[in-house]
Amino acid sequence: MEKIEAKHFKIFNPLSKFFKRKLSDFSLSYKIPTKKERDALLNEIIEFLNNENTTVSGKHRKKQWENGWNENLLEFQKTKELEALIPKYFNKFKIQRLNGDFIFPVENNFEIKIVSLFQYAIFNKYFKNEKVIYEFGAGTGHNLLRLREINKNAKLYAFEWTNSGVKLINLVANFLNDNYIKGIKFDNFNPEFSIKLEKNSSIYTFAALEQLGNNFTKFLDYILINKPKFIVNVEPLNETLDNKDLLQNLSIKYFKKRNYLNNYVLHLKSLEKQKKVKIMDTYRTGLGSKYIEGYSIVVWKPVI
Ligand SMILES: C[S@@+](CC[C@H](N)C(=O)[O-])C[C@H]1O[C@@H](n2cnc3c(N)ncnc32)[C@H](O)[C@@H]1O
Repeated sequence: MEKIEAKHFKIFNPLSKFFKRKLSDFSLSYKIPTKKERDALLNEIIEFLNNENTTVSGKHRKKQWENGWNENLLEFQKTKELEALIPKYFNKFKIQRLNGDFIFPVENNFEIKIVSLFQYAIFNKYFKNEKVIYEFGAGTGHNLLRLREINKNAKLYAFEWTNSGVKLINLVANFLNDNYIKGIKFDNFNPEFSIKLEKNSSIYTFAALEQLGNNFTKFLDYILINKPKFIVNVEPLNETLDNKDLLQNLSIKYFKKRNYLNNYVLHLKSLEKQKKVKIMDTYRTGLGSKYIEGYSIVVWKPVI
């Protein structure tokens, strides 16, 4: 049995005391698959990629997101527990990727906990001292509550295209007496340009642009016009993965099959050539789930 340790987060060094406390509180353990188990997983993924019909992302999925977040909304209204905000897709498969390879989690809530640890590290690195922060495609808003643990004073805006998500976020803000968390309806496919971002704001997305496929140029236009200080996208980024590595290659194929974000970094690079943006960093976290390594990071800013 192995333990999740500080070394798994070394890309975010130096780690804060807060982070180390969370790491020790969560106390996560996992097992490394045997060669036979690993081969069986690879086989399942290849079978899936070859045979299964699957839902693809796009505008047609809005109703599904609406219904999904409505389930969380109803649960929160009933229980008044913040746990109700955790998306139901977490912990679905008892397999994760760590350092880009499979692991078998030992505890039940491993996935949301390891994702939370990565978020704490990301928030601490980029958003600890920011004053106005936007999350686009914020879902139930649960990420913002983790950000709030790290940054007590920032104004936090959750932009999300579903009514249920926005309603839930505003309900939770009210429940927590947090006047500086606000949910606003916003469609990344068709940004409402009359909604202006506050000055000196920063932005992140977490597994949200993934839903745009190739359809991200209007979203980028909106960002460029609003000139935030910087943006951190934590998303499936095909450009960060190496198609000569089997797991990474299968992950890229899965992105394609689900119509996830495609060639986003490539597009940012072309904007960089036109001197419209500056890319500060692009890297893998190695974190993922059964089918994908879905959490790579690109940090960039509009050139003002
Ligand atoms: C995988 S979920 C991630 C939600 C949240 N960021 C999180 O980490 O829990 C994808 C989110 O993107 C939202 N989304 C998809 N397409 C969108 C669009 N065009 N505009 C705004 N949000 C969108 C969905 O409603 C959902 O909340």
